[in-house]
Parts: sequence; structure tokens; C-alpha cells
Amino acid sequence: RYEKIWLTLGAASLVVFLAILGFMAVGLGLDAPGHMDTIVPAQAMQTPPFDAPGLKQIGEKEYELVMLGQVFAFAPGEVNIPEGSTVHFRITTPDVVHGLLIPGTNVNMMIVPGHITEFTYTFRKAGDYLMLCNEYCGVGHHLMMGKLIVQ
Ligand code: CUA
Repeated sequence: RYEKIWLTLGAASLVVFLAILGFMAVGLGLDAPGHMDTIVPAQAMQTPPFDAPGLKQIGEKEYELVMLGQVFAFAPGEVNIPEGSTVHFRITTPDVVHGLLIPGTNVNMMIVPGHITEFTYTFRKAGDYLMLCNEYCGVGHHLMMGKLIVQ
């Protein structure tokens, strides 16, 4: 009789333990580095704001830059901003894993289907910056680049 009680208690604590683990996993997932939100990849190009990628001014020298990375180009492919601008990048992809690397800055984002990757950077120096894909994404990978002009 006591055996049964102990077995029940054991099973119950196991369930509680697994539940806690599950909640922790969900919690950690939501707080993943880079703060990623989710999006359905197949519908990414129809889902606002990614249905209209581009630069949007949200303050004095402050911009939101909504981008799509797809085989084998970035949209928009060219961006113009004034010197000293802070840019909030938001980027996703409808197809495969890409990257967004801007040499000379610490912009180095991973673009993952199903996720929205966000990063903020202030461009203090004028110049032409390259936007490069730095995750191998197929035969056109080396052609996948854009330009960010700071003046
Ligand atoms: Cu896109 Cu490599």
C-alpha cells in the first residue's frame, strides 16, 4: 500500500519536473540572443512590414530599415542615410539562411527563415558601406550584396 503512494509521488514529481523544464525552454526560446520574433517564411513577403521593404524615418537621424534577404539579393539593394544616423535593422527571409555583414561595422546578422532578426547601429562615419551575405546560400551566394551610402 505504501509502495503505491511512493510510486504515485515519484511519478507526480517527475511530471512537475518535466513541466518546469518545458517552461524554462519556452522562456529561454523567447529570450534568444538577437531578439528574434517569428514569421511564416512562405508568407514573409506578404507580411507587413516585409511586404514593403525599405527605409522609414522614425526620428531625427533615426531610421527603421526593413529588409528581405533572398536568393540572391537584398531588398532594398541600396540605402541612403545621412551621416550620424542610427539604423534599426529588421530583416527576414522567405527561403534559406542568409547573413548580413557590413564590413567596418559590427553589423553581422544571421537571417533565418521563420525569424525576424533585429540589430541597431549608428553610422558615424560617411562612406559607402557594403552589405554582404556571409552565410552560404547557394550558387549565387557571392553575388548577394547591397550598398549602404552614408553622406
Ligand atoms: Cu545569401 Cu549567401
